[in-house]
Amino acid sequence: MKYDFTTLVDRSELSSSKWESMKGKGRELPKGIVPFSVADMEFKTPSKITEGLKDYLTDSILGYANPSKAYYDAICNWMKKRHGYEVNRERIATTPGVVCAIHLAIECFSKADENVLIMAPSYPPFFHAVEDCQRKLLVNNLVLKDGHYEIDFEDFEAKAKDPKTTMFILCSPHNPTGRVWKKEELERIAQICLENHVFIVADEIHHDLIMPGYHHICFPTLSKEIEDNCMMCTSVSKTFNVAGMKVSNIIIPNEERFKKFWALARKWHVTSLGILSFEACRIGYAECEDWLEELLETLAENKRFVTEYIKENLPMLKTIECEGTYLMWIDFRALNMTDEQLEEFMESKAYWYTNQGYTFLESGSGFERLNIACPKWVLEEAMERLNKAIKSL
Ligand SMILES: Cc1ncc(COP(=O)(O)O)c(C=O)c1O
Repeated sequence: MKYDFTTLVDRSELSSSKWESMKGKGRELPKGIVPFSVADMEFKTPSKITEGLKDYLTDSILGYANPSKAYYDAICNWMKKRHGYEVNRERIATTPGVVCAIHLAIECFSKADENVLIMAPSYPPFFHAVEDCQRKLLVNNLVLKDGHYEIDFEDFEAKAKDPKTTMFILCSPHNPTGRVWKKEELERIAQICLENHVFIVADEIHHDLIMPGYHHICFPTLSKEIEDNCMMCTSVSKTFNVAGMKVSNIIIPNEERFKKFWALARKWHVTSLGILSFEACRIGYAECEDWLEELLETLAENKRFVTEYIKENLPMLKTIECEGTYLMWIDFRALNMTDEQLEEFMESKAYWYTNQGYTFLESGSGFERLNIACPKWVLEEAMERLNKAIKSL
């Protein structure tokens, strides 16, 4: 490998959200415990980005920033080359993060007494956003069939048909289950939403992180009609480990909707980003594709390792096939613990600081979300710890 995916950076004093939250639990931990929660990576950000930012800072002026032509070129080239999507740069709205864009979208494209539909288990900020904006939350529970999550289309359609339902937030690839939706599934979702005048917010933040054998389809590429009825949330944050830069690119193909969204973003003053954020995003897309290729190989190997380890040593647990993202969704229900017992066991016996399944709504109860974006040896140690803890039960 040309790049370093084996060194662990000690982030315990680097204001990392996931490390701070582990420390905040106040437990005495053995040396070397690494958290596996929040979706950023324990791999160094590509040196082309960190060195590029240093170069940029030399003789620079840290004034107010606007995205440049080179910035938009980098995004559009990336989307065309990696995803076959020709993006109209006039319809890209920059926001300080995808979650911010989802809040804006709810305010913009739905009304106070209307329903917003999501799928569960769900990335928590989706339902928090719906609740914060005081819309009614409708939940379409995914169905676990033979270890594979599938969409209950009958239920989805019934909820979309409610005249009060005006928005659906799609997570593609899906966090936390790791599903990469098939074309037929996306088309069926799109069709139901079109027929029932439901606007789709497609959160595709993990779209560059696809496991071998799977193919991600950008939602707006399905058809012109569908493109007009959706917005696509993208970001370099997951792809190149720059989540702290808070830069995301929201593609809203319909002109009227784009203008409405941008007007609200201006009203709340969330259109301007930090000057380094734009540069980090530009460098990532323009110069770091080879880093991503190596990252994908590393993640595929980490997934293989965890899957095999569990199969051979802890067969009572079940891994759900991770088709995309770097998050593995693992079924611990066979341990027969309550959510509280499982959390306590994971943190105080196995020293696993993962995301607890119940925080992804009820259907996540009994599961753990493991972030595998870390050096493989860190996972090897963690699996041994978990094995020992379970054997001691
Ligand atoms: C599906 C999904 N959307 C959004 C985000 C966060 O986006 P941002 O940091 O750009 O607000 C995450 C982070 O884990 C995520 O998994």
